[in-house]
Amino acid sequence: MNKFFGDLHVLKDINLEVPKGQVVVVLGPSGSGKSTLCRAINRLEPINSGEIEVDGQPLPAEGKALAALRAEVGMVFQSFNLFAHKTIVENVMLAPVKVRKVGQDEARKTAMQLLDRVGIANQAQKYPAQLSGGQQQRAAIARALAMKPKVMLFDEPTSALDPEMVQEVLDTMTGLAKEGMTMLVVTHEMGFARRAANRVVFMSDGEIVEDASPDEFFTKPKSDRAKDFLGKILTH
Ligand SMILES: Nc1ncnc2c1ncn2[C@@H]1O[C@H](COP(=O)(O)OP(=O)(O)OP(=O)(O)O)[C@@H](O)[C@H]1O
Ligand SMILES: [Mg+2]
Repeated sequence: MNKFFGDLHVLKDINLEVPKGQVVVVLGPSGSGKSTLCRAINRLEPINSGEIEVDGQPLPAEGKALAALRAEVGMVFQSFNLFAHKTIVENVMLAPVKVRKVGQDEARKTAMQLLDRVGIANQAQKYPAQLSGGQQQRAAIARALAMKPKVMLFDEPTSALDPEMVQEVLDTMTGLAKEGMTMLVVTHEMGFARRAANRVVFMSDGEIVEDASPDEFFTKPKSDRAKDFLGKILTH
């Protein structure tokens, strides 16, 4: 696919296939197009050419069919965007009730199971502002999972967190990966990339420059752009 913002070509002939159950970490310098790629996959950004398929189904450009297919792609952002005036469990119940027309009781039961899975069942009755950043981000992950997505997209999910809360969110994500969730993760957490990723995609200037196993990428990067990037992040 290709994507332009005016004259700026931000995604250049992107061709990426993520097999079911694979965890792909997307790395690259600021402005290389990582967020735009995630937003395009979720159709939060229209693309100018190309096609996006989820589970073999082309993602429609708009309308009702898009809403249904978009529900299959869960997205977790840097900022948690929880509804401030709803409790944590209500936040997780909201989309299944509104979009999927799941009954209140069932939605609550599923929400509690998900909160348990991300380790914050004891926070269910609190409001977002009463939780730590790490707990809020785990609530946001539970909320995305409530729609039973086929793919989860994470765009720098830990970069707004205090350092001591990063690990709990990464552990939650590692757990998801182990359970077989298909994941595309933009992150600067190289430890997570090494441990949890099946594959590293390196972007620069809107292009996929390298697509390799973590071991290969970190020990034998091929391009100068990747070498330069790794030199900067591994020494900072
Ligand atoms: N809404 C927009 N309008 C115009 N240009 C945009 C818009 N969003 C992003 N861009 C530009 O597109 C390019 C890619 O941005 P993007 O946010 O995808 O980068 P990124 O790799 O996620 O960077 P970072 O690591 O800083 O988050 C940048 O040059 C950016 O300035
Ligand atoms: Mg970004």
